[in-house]
Amino acid sequence: MSGVIPLNKTIAKVKNGIHGTIVIPGDKSVSHRSLMISALCDGQTVHVKNFLRSADCLSTLEAIRALGVTVKENEDNSLDITGVGLQGLQEPQTIVDAGDSGTLLRLMMGLLAAQPFLTTFTGDAALHKRPMGRVIKPLEMMGAKIVGRKDNTLLPITILPNEKKNFHGITYEMPVASAQVKSAILLAALTAGVEVKIIEPVPSRNHTECMMRAFGINVETNGNEVVFHPAERLQGPKTIEVPGDISSAAFWLVAGSIIPNSSIVLKNVGVNPSRTGILDVLRDMGADIVETNRYESGGEAIADIHVKSAKLHGTAFGKDIMPRLIDEIPIIAVAALFAEGETKITGAEELRVKETDRLHAIAEEFNKLAPAITELEDGLIIKGGLPLKNSEAFSYDDHRIAMALAIAGAAGEGVEISHPECVNISYPEFYDTLSNVQI
Ligand code: S3P
Repeated sequence: MSGVIPLNKTIAKVKNGIHGTIVIPGDKSVSHRSLMISALCDGQTVHVKNFLRSADCLSTLEAIRALGVTVKENEDNSLDITGVGLQGLQEPQTIVDAGDSGTLLRLMMGLLAAQPFLTTFTGDAALHKRPMGRVIKPLEMMGAKIVGRKDNTLLPITILPNEKKNFHGITYEMPVASAQVKSAILLAALTAGVEVKIIEPVPSRNHTECMMRAFGINVETNGNEVVFHPAERLQGPKTIEVPGDISSAAFWLVAGSIIPNSSIVLKNVGVNPSRTGILDVLRDMGADIVETNRYESGGEAIADIHVKSAKLHGTAFGKDIMPRLIDEIPIIAVAALFAEGETKITGAEELRVKETDRLHAIAEEFNKLAPAITELEDGLIIKGGLPLKNSEAFSYDDHRIAMALAIAGAAGEGVEISHPECVNISYPEFYDTLSNVQI
């Protein structure tokens, strides 16, 4: 029957390895930022190549249009965004729906903090549970007026009209490393025209800084510190090339490693060093991963990655590397299930406030395939090498849990995933690609 969303997805055991070339879809973080930053150019049109047409990024596209920005969508996944200038955004006529996207919500709160109009945000049930006080607090310190449920910490959230003259620069020491919080502060500083200094416990992904620099903004980075200097106007590059998302490539990096007789090439993967923790950990586990054809575009490093099956062994890692692989823990847990020996992950408490409590979801659902995982307050202990069985497992409506379960099933004895459609959040063609790379 057409129009009915399947409630379960059957993933079969892969028989003869995975082979071929996978063109990795655009990076989710860079796609969100390409819309928000291009929108602020002075009447200039920026061509964005390889925009990720997933549910989260399409929510940002709609939100940017609601602010009066013209965005043309082209057949080849590119966009043409015509900026309205730093002071040209218009009042949205209705509530802005962030859907499932923490990045949309947190970055846009910064973008809209110093606007002369009111914006109210909503989102899906999961986003209503995620902590927003971490963004509201520094924005209020800069001069923003924001109200939200539960003492200004949860959706729904309203940003009250404000004037640039009420804003001032801050030095902000972030309690947790978060690119979303850092980016919200940088976007507020950009539109309010104030200088800010941000200090992170450990550096998080730097896509906002890279893109702002490509737009002529002076953003300095020194270790854990980022200093933003205000600018009168934004001069965009003619074209932004969105790299393939290493967080999506991660599923194939692990699948190619743990499924015997596999050899795959991943094309155009973003290898910005603030995102490549997964490569470091997999190499440390014994993976056979080779990068070729490396180049740079808009301050972002891009490469092809060749991965072949390898015998993995357990590892241990913690909070220092966490921001560089924060979204990859579910699929690293799968690599650990297939590795020899034990893997210990610590310093990962931020996973409890992602699209779902990912530490809990991983422990609950993967243990249905093999009783291998112990949940810690801030991480996981995973016993490798236990036999897996075919079972039903729940995605928790979390895209990265669903895709990690699919790879565990494909490499093990199959899996029946309930609520599988959430992969649309970041990787709509994931299941088709999984079928196409099998021989
Ligand atoms: C993101 C930053 C990370 C990451 C999220 C995307 C971004 O969140 O988990 O998927 O685009 O800035 P935090 O910054 O909250 O750690």
